[in-house]
Amino acid sequence: MAQQDDKIPTITSPEYAKNIFDFETVASKKLAPDIWHWLSGGADDMKTLQANRSAFDHLQIRARRLVNVSKIDTTVKIFDQTLATPIVLAPVGSQKQFNIEGELATARAAASRNHLMIASTVSSFSLAKITTAAQKGVWFQLYPTPDRQITRTLLQRAEDAGCPVVVLTVDAPVLGNREKEAGFRRLLESEKDALGNFVDLEVQTTLDPSLEWDFISWLKENTKMKIVIKGIVTHEDAKLCLENSADGIIISNHGGRQEESNRGTMECLPEIVEAIKGRIPILIDGGFRRGTDIFKALALGAQAICIGRPYLWGLASFGQGGVEKVLDLLQAELVRIMQLAGTPYISNITPDFIARK
Ligand SMILES: Cc1cc2nc3c(=O)[nH]c(=O)nc-3n(C[C@H](O)[C@H](O)[C@H](O)COP(=O)(O)O)c2cc1C
Repeated sequence: MAQQDDKIPTITSPEYAKNIFDFETVASKKLAPDIWHWLSGGADDMKTLQANRSAFDHLQIRARRLVNVSKIDTTVKIFDQTLATPIVLAPVGSQKQFNIEGELATARAAASRNHLMIASTVSSFSLAKITTAAQKGVWFQLYPTPDRQITRTLLQRAEDAGCPVVVLTVDAPVLGNREKEAGFRRLLESEKDALGNFVDLEVQTTLDPSLEWDFISWLKENTKMKIVIKGIVTHEDAKLCLENSADGIIISNHGGRQEESNRGTMECLPEIVEAIKGRIPILIDGGFRRGTDIFKALALGAQAICIGRPYLWGLASFGQGGVEKVLDLLQAELVRIMQLAGTPYISNITPDFIARK
């Protein structure tokens, strides 16, 4: 939770941040209450949101000694993309609500720090503008509208913009019950033209509750991009991803914003790793706030992790510079725990480095 205590000084520039929570404090004070609740809130009584964080507490690190850690390499390969770091920016819509430059500031920060960004269907700016700002390799997150012609147009635009991967979000057949943000949702509905990908498309909703597994074959017929499924939390669905020839998955519960009483995503990871057996890449998000959190997920079999709220705190606090500093801090924390645990390469981080409490 944000440190609301007035006795704790808020930072006045990104350079003063000790950790990413310093940005949470600034953002909580800077944003209007409805936007703050939209950013920070979860479904119902927020138990899934809390589970995402508490899941890390049951895992401890078994550090090894006397390993040469003078050089640390955090590169990972996903599909044919080599990523400088396994820390990925998760898709988040309507980022103008946090800073006037919205996704453009995020994309520039991701580019300057060499991180992969996933751009949301419901971004404030169009995908073309975001990919230009990011310079390369953005993945496109898809909310398929019930109108398949519009979905085809979105896919075509993503291909034209050079996106190698489409990320299909499957945990939002309807919106979760986020009581604190209700006021903001009304605002969005009355300002559809505030969504950059839809300025010239007549769309009633981006949610499609009729979607089933055969949609993946429809996607395969309609795009050349690799297909990654976001929102998987069980081994049953992980196996269905394989059966339906998905290229990758993101374990996610939408940051605790959809169904209540879900497990933390780190509790879902082992059964999904077991089901996937290394056949396709596994990414994971939900509650990643420290380098040690990232280390634990990599150890248990994820190839990369995504962050949502942390970079939004940076964006809301100081725009592009805030996002950059959030990325710098998490990357530095990851490098430090790799040095302390004796794992110079990401491939050295295995289940042997984890003990369960
Ligand atoms: C304000 C907000 C908006 C989001 N918008 C989207 C979206 O448009 N598409 C999507 O697939 N996920 C969306 N998400 C979920 C994130 O991609 C991600 O799963 C989640 O934020 C990860 O958890 P974390 O915030 O604890 O890091 C959103 C999350 C937040 C906080």
